Amino acid sequence: MEKRKVLLIGGGGREAAIAWHIDRTCADVELHATPGNPGIAEFAACHSVKADDLDALCVLGKSLRPDLTIVGPEAPLVAGIVDRFDDELSLSVVGPNAAAAFLEGSKVRAKRFMRRHGIPTAPFHVFDNPNSAERYLESVAYNPVVIKADGLCGGKGVIIPHSLDSQFAAVAEIMRDKRFGPAGDRIVIEKKLEGVECSLLVLADGVNAIPFPAARDFKRRFDGDKGPNTGGMGCFCPIPDISPDLLEEIMDDIVYPTIRGMAYEGHPYRGVLYFGLMLTEDGPKVLEYNCRFGDPETEVILPILTEDWNFVDLLGLTLEANSGLETVELKWQGVAVGVVAVHEGYPGKSSRGVPVDVTNVGKTGSLVFHAGTKLDTSGNLVTDGGRIAVCVGLGKDFRTAREQSYGGIALLDFEGRAYRDDIAEQIAQSEPI
Ligand code: AMP
Ligand code: GLY
Repeated sequence: MEKRKVLLIGGGGREAAIAWHIDRTCADVELHATPGNPGIAEFAACHSVKADDLDALCVLGKSLRPDLTIVGPEAPLVAGIVDRFDDELSLSVVGPNAAAAFLEGSKVRAKRFMRRHGIPTAPFHVFDNPNSAERYLESVAYNPVVIKADGLCGGKGVIIPHSLDSQFAAVAEIMRDKRFGPAGDRIVIEKKLEGVECSLLVLADGVNAIPFPAARDFKRRFDGDKGPNTGGMGCFCPIPDISPDLLEEIMDDIVYPTIRGMAYEGHPYRGVLYFGLMLTEDGPKVLEYNCRFGDPETEVILPILTEDWNFVDLLGLTLEANSGLETVELKWQGVAVGVVAVHEGYPGKSSRGVPVDVTNVGKTGSLVFHAGTKLDTSGNLVTDGGRIAVCVGLGKDFRTAREQSYGGIALLDFEGRAYRDDIAEQIAQSEPI
């Protein structure tokens, strides 16, 4: 069989899950990844180009000539990798072009887009200088708000202050001290919403959209949702509180207005679109858009999909409007719980060069997706980041899946290992025995 060449850009847990899922559903694919990681290397030929080096990615694209490219992280999408692969190399990429990726690249533009199209979201104001932001905060006395830097900040640009003083400190940090550089030239101040969060990812072809099973991400570093925000400490999927009726409401009031709004404004959205939602008493509202697969959502979504879709074919349907995507119904089975093993100093610190042993994890039945690992010069597996690996347990219920993922984490060994103990605990406890 002649194989299709697929290039996967990225090298974290999300890309490891995508590589694993391609391996199990696409016998007709020769997978390449860049930069990949040692887990991804089990399924792909890895190249050394970094995901945010667009010039080098174009050189790699030119020499490999992949039939399809899949982009994991947001930075190359926002910087225009889709446009460059298309314009310079005539190569197809799954994902939005730069003009559509503003949904993640600019919180100000995303909020204004939602306002224009009547998409439910928290009320907000935009400020481009700190004095007026401070005057506003003072004028409303203390109101619970969320303060967001406009541009990409690697998941760290959202601050939820708990007093007027800390609101001022947040404005100063972003706008005066420029902690995030030019990403903080403008800020959004929006009402803090109460409710339950969920991540809904859809595949879109510019006109149609189909949902993946929804997932819940645990963003805070410590048990009980305490401590700083992180890139994600764990996740579970699906979310039982999302009934078919609620999903329909989300598709009608949020997903389709977004897809139609983007097409109306001349930027039809193609690829994966991630809706970060708050399920409030007044219904679901959008907290944020991401223009890609979520991490660690992907690590729990893909393993429960049934294998009746060749994943590369499925993603390929997003490249062209009305390619048949509208008739696809994704099927999934059972539940998944993912627990992230991090370095104890994460998110402040990361770990480099410390030996990692994953050999026993599989004995528990848990999957292990490498995130921050690499091979040292002697070929030994060592740490290389803050989030080291994700153990994913599967089962018919959350109790079983949880036991499996925690069994895996216990056998994933490296010095300084840390993880949250309470991922999916509540949902498992609420299940009938
Ligand atoms: P974002 O990057 O916009 O998703 O924000 C990161 C996290 O901040 C979200 O996952 C929420 O936990 C929280 N967040 C963002 N906006 C709000 C809001 N308006 N109300 C409450 N929490 C929020
Ligand atoms: N899990 C949050 C994100 O992917 O941005």
